[in-house]
Amino acid sequence: MSKVATLEIDGKKYEFPVIVGSENEVAIDIKNLRGESGVITLDPGFKNTGSCESAITFLDGELGILRYRGYSIEELAEKAEFLEVVFLLIFGELPNKEELGKFKEDIKAQSEVNLDMKKVIKGFPPTAHPMGMLSSLTSALIAFNPKSVNVDSEEDMYKAIVKILAKFPTLAAWTLRRRNDLPLENSDNSLGYVESFLKMMFQKPGEEYKANKNVVDALDKLLILHADHEQNCSTSTVRIVGSSQAGLFASISAGVSALWGPLHGGANQAVIEMLEAIKADGGDTSKFIAKAKDKDDPFRLMGFGHRVYKNFDPRAKIIKKAADEVLAELGVDDPILEIAKGLEKAALEDEYFVERKLYPNVDFYSGIIYRAMGIPTEMFTVMFAVGRLPGWIAQWREMRLAKEPIGRPRQVYIGESLRGFKELDKR
Ligand code: CMC
Repeated sequence: MSKVATLEIDGKKYEFPVIVGSENEVAIDIKNLRGESGVITLDPGFKNTGSCESAITFLDGELGILRYRGYSIEELAEKAEFLEVVFLLIFGELPNKEELGKFKEDIKAQSEVNLDMKKVIKGFPPTAHPMGMLSSLTSALIAFNPKSVNVDSEEDMYKAIVKILAKFPTLAAWTLRRRNDLPLENSDNSLGYVESFLKMMFQKPGEEYKANKNVVDALDKLLILHADHEQNCSTSTVRIVGSSQAGLFASISAGVSALWGPLHGGANQAVIEMLEAIKADGGDTSKFIAKAKDKDDPFRLMGFGHRVYKNFDPRAKIIKKAADEVLAELGVDDPILEIAKGLEKAALEDEYFVERKLYPNVDFYSGIIYRAMGIPTEMFTVMFAVGRLPGWIAQWREMRLAKEPIGRPRQVYIGESLRGFKELDKR
């Protein structure tokens, strides 16, 4: 017999179905709560609110587990390539050789970005933040692709997905080229997705560019680790914007903006800035730990803590190991890696962090790898966005195929009750 949850309000009892997920996550289905009782739930920050049922990503924050479509993040990071994971997330299964080959060719065929987009990016000052440019450029793509996606047509849906996957890395790379005042190139289709992305970022006019294989492999892995993370802030943004039936590109552009914030994807930039500040201050981590614990100080230890993980973020574990490997392979000796390790150790031994179950998250070590690859700090969140793109697409697709209703939370009004208008001269 299915379970029910009983709620009593003013002596009256209401029953609600209890939903159990495939990993035994339990939720009370309160869809009919207001209709039956006139009451709503209040949950700022959605700390206890499930916004959807999803079959894409499973994570257990207490145990530090992360899986895409049932595959562990550890195994995918070790054995898969980014575009395989992209396919898996969006379409539900790992592609076979033929499917993967076709997927790659379809992406390449759509990789050219309309020449007029170059005019859009040239309108930005070179000092503009790459994330602001990326969000605007993604939105500007709509002007060149005005036909809205027919979500009832598998073919239309596939075309739109391939288009954004193909053009997004180019736009991302262009944000760096705009900052460096370099000519804007389209992707090199003789190369793989990740290698071409690196070339678009770094190639200088008149010079041959050959990406270092270690860099390509490390970036591929980083993109996999960032590819989805269930209903985080930017993904929820993408789903909610998409729920109004705004198009895929508009929804992704909103996701980029949400990701930019320092409490979300912007943390990778903030971590490096924090580690640099510690270094400039003489390397004393205890001062910064004390600042993070001081409730009168807004400073937080960036790259630490997570809404869902109350244990090691499994991605951070993999990235920490990769940071050691990549820096050794590239022969980079970055003093901030040691500062980061010292800071992590000090925090993990500190009662404040232990009590609150604050562990390093995905952003803590990723910036150190990006830096070793020669990627400037302000591009770090753009790198995250390129990695998260398939997750946003997969979640948008799932939401549209499930014909989810428009996302529209309620509120508890705490403002003034009805009052009479006061004429200007009487105020
Ligand atoms: N440094 C110091 N104290 C912290 C930190 C931190 N990084 N994170 C949480 N706390 C404290 C917080 O002050 C609160 O203490 P108290 O209970 O005494 O009031 C307690 O821990 C719980 O924190 P919260 O803010 O209620 O937790 P949350 O789930 O709302 O926030 C978070 C999660 C990720 C926004 C937060 O941990 C944070 O601001 N971390 C730093 C920014 C960061 O690294 N963000 C990247 C997140 S992972 C990747 C991604 O999402 O993009």
